[in-house]
Amino acid sequence: MTAELIDGKAFAATVREKVAHHVARLKEDHRITPGLAVVLVGEDPASQVYVRNKGRQTVEVGMESYEHRLDADTPQADLLALIERLNNDPSVHGILVQLPLPDHIDADLVINAIDPAKDVDGFHISNVGLLATGQKAMVPCTPLGCLMMLRDRLGNLSGQEAVVVGRSNIVGKPMAQLLLRDSCTVTIAHSRTRDIGEVVRRADIVVAAVGRPGMVPGDWIKPGATVIDVGINRVEAPEKGMNEDGTPKTRLVGDVDFDSAAQVAGAITPVPGGVGPMTIACLLANTVTACCRANGLSEPEGLTA
Ligand code: GUN
Repeated sequence: MTAELIDGKAFAATVREKVAHHVARLKEDHRITPGLAVVLVGEDPASQVYVRNKGRQTVEVGMESYEHRLDADTPQADLLALIERLNNDPSVHGILVQLPLPDHIDADLVINAIDPAKDVDGFHISNVGLLATGQKAMVPCTPLGCLMMLRDRLGNLSGQEAVVVGRSNIVGKPMAQLLLRDSCTVTIAHSRTRDIGEVVRRADIVVAAVGRPGMVPGDWIKPGATVIDVGINRVEAPEKGMNEDGTPKTRLVGDVDFDSAAQVAGAITPVPGGVGPMTIACLLANTVTACCRANGLSEPEGLTA
C-alpha cells in the first residue's frame, strides 16, 4: 500500500482563510482588530525566522502584529515588565514569547506571567490544567493543528488507538490530552518505553514528536494507520552537493522514516509541508479565538479544539 499524503500546506491555507474571514467580520461588525504580540529575546537564527513568518502571516490575515525584539542580555525583570504591559493592553489579544529563552531567564516564570486569556501558545499552567480537565482552554498550536488534520481525515476519533511518541510539554502531552478528549485510547511512548515498536504497531493514529530524524521506521506502523509527523530535523544531505564553505548541503526530515512508513500507512504527513505550516495557522486561529472570548463574542467555528 502507498499512503495518501496529508497536505498540511493546503490545510493551513484553508485555516488562514477562515481566520481572515473572522477577522473581517470582527472589524466590520464590531470595530475590533485582533492583535498578536510576539516577544523575541536574543538572536537565535531559527527563532528569528519563525518570528518573521508569524509577523507576516498575522498581517496577511488582517490582524495587527506587534513585535518586541529584546537583547539577549535583557534582565528578566524587564521582560516581565513588558509582559505586564501587554497583559494590560486592550489592543493585544494574544501574547507569544518565543522559546527558547536565554539561560538567565526562567522560562516557566515568564510563561506563567502571561494573562492565560492571552496565552495563545497554551503553555500557561492554567491552560494546561483547563485542557487536562476538559474545560475551555487555549490549546497549544502544533497539537491543535494535528488534531484538525486527524478530524478532517478520520471524522469522529472515538475509540481509535492513538500512540503519541514523545512527552514534551509543547507537543506530546497536550496532543495526548486532546486525543483523550476526543475519546481515543491514548498511549504516550518515549525514550524509556519497552518494546516501543510493539506499542506503536497497535496504533490507528501515530503522532511522532521526539525530534530524532527517522526514529519511527515503517515496520512500527500498522497497515492503514494515519501517521502525523511533527519532527522537523535538519540533516546533512551530501547527495544535494556541497556549500561554498565545503560543508554538505542539508535537508529537512521528520521523526518518521517517510519512505518505509509511506509503504504501510493509510495516510501520512510529509516533512516539510505537513504539520509545520499548521502551527502558525493555528496560532492565528488561537488569536481570533482569544479576541472573541475577550469581547464576549461567539467563537469562530472550526478553529478551536
Ligand atoms: N519555539 C519552538 N516552538 C515554539 C512554539 O510553539 N511556541 C513558542 N513560543 N516558541 C516556540
